[in-house]
Amino acid sequence: MTSYLVDFAVRSSRCILQLCEGRARPGMKVASWLATCGGRTPGSDPCDTDIFIITTPKSGTVWLKALSFAIVNRSNYTPSTNPLLTTNPPYTIPFFEIQLYHYNQNPDLSKLQSPRLFATHIPYSSLPESILTNSNCRILYLCRNPKDAFVSMWHFLNSISEDGQMPVGLDEAFQLFCKGAIPFGPFWEHVLDFWKLSLEKPKHVLFLKYEDMKADTNSHIKKMADFLGYPFSSQEVEKGVVDEISKLCSFEHLSNLEVNKTGLIDPREKIPNHIFFRKAKVGDWSNHLTQQMILELDEITKEKLNGTGVMF
Ligand code: A3P
Repeated sequence: MTSYLVDFAVRSSRCILQLCEGRARPGMKVASWLATCGGRTPGSDPCDTDIFIITTPKSGTVWLKALSFAIVNRSNYTPSTNPLLTTNPPYTIPFFEIQLYHYNQNPDLSKLQSPRLFATHIPYSSLPESILTNSNCRILYLCRNPKDAFVSMWHFLNSISEDGQMPVGLDEAFQLFCKGAIPFGPFWEHVLDFWKLSLEKPKHVLFLKYEDMKADTNSHIKKMADFLGYPFSSQEVEKGVVDEISKLCSFEHLSNLEVNKTGLIDPREKIPNHIFFRKAKVGDWSNHLTQQMILELDEITKEKLNGTGVMF
């Protein structure tokens, strides 16, 4: 079987290179990473137990990572020993295109505990065949209303801009977003492709929306646990384990942990951990977008998603 993890990483890097044109900056260097991930790395063969967290950027990836980690590892830790209390979520579940193949370059994936949890923003069109057809791995897919995803992205990209770089104005960033020129974009194609895959292969892909998860977190935690093959027993539900996980991973809790308030994602980058936690509100776009922008974005969304069954 092909080494899909390496394939995945190489494709992710290509995708970053292609899509980060203009001033929508990904805040990462890919050249050295590309140079090294052509070879096989230990443990890069597929496992049916692998879990992929795939998201459009700024859709709540950190939240989904924390929830997935807490669900599948709930028998290994108590609420007070959970690594989420002391580790920034990007490190509990590494991104292929960042922690694994960019910072590490030659990661030993065989050392990762089963079930292995990986994250990526890579679009469907760049996924290797092996992950789509040859493997029984599970994909948790999360997206968000494009107006909120855009506003969150705009804040994020400006917070990671390097010293001396001019911040990207809202108007300019908006035009880029509408054209699809954002990291891992275009947004709508990303969403639609995984939506179709989830309809075709419901055991392979669980399609989630940030707004739905915010509205009823506990039922989504149960849904995710069922999908991943880690259902909650009735005793667990009675004991309040679902509620415990919901609270552990809540924005209020995670954003106030010392590990997430201080420090950098990686000493080689100047990205502080706290910028992954901003407001976590549904509808913050109304505080930023003009009437014209709202109309334009809604129109594109209608045009791209009308009749597909995806609604924001
Ligand atoms: P805002 O910028 O709207 O506040 P990602 O993790 O994909 O980078 O997404 C970041 C968005 O998720 C940010 O949105 C952030 O505040 C929000 N977020 C972070 N942790 C969260 C949590 N535990 N629950 C809900 N939203 C969270």
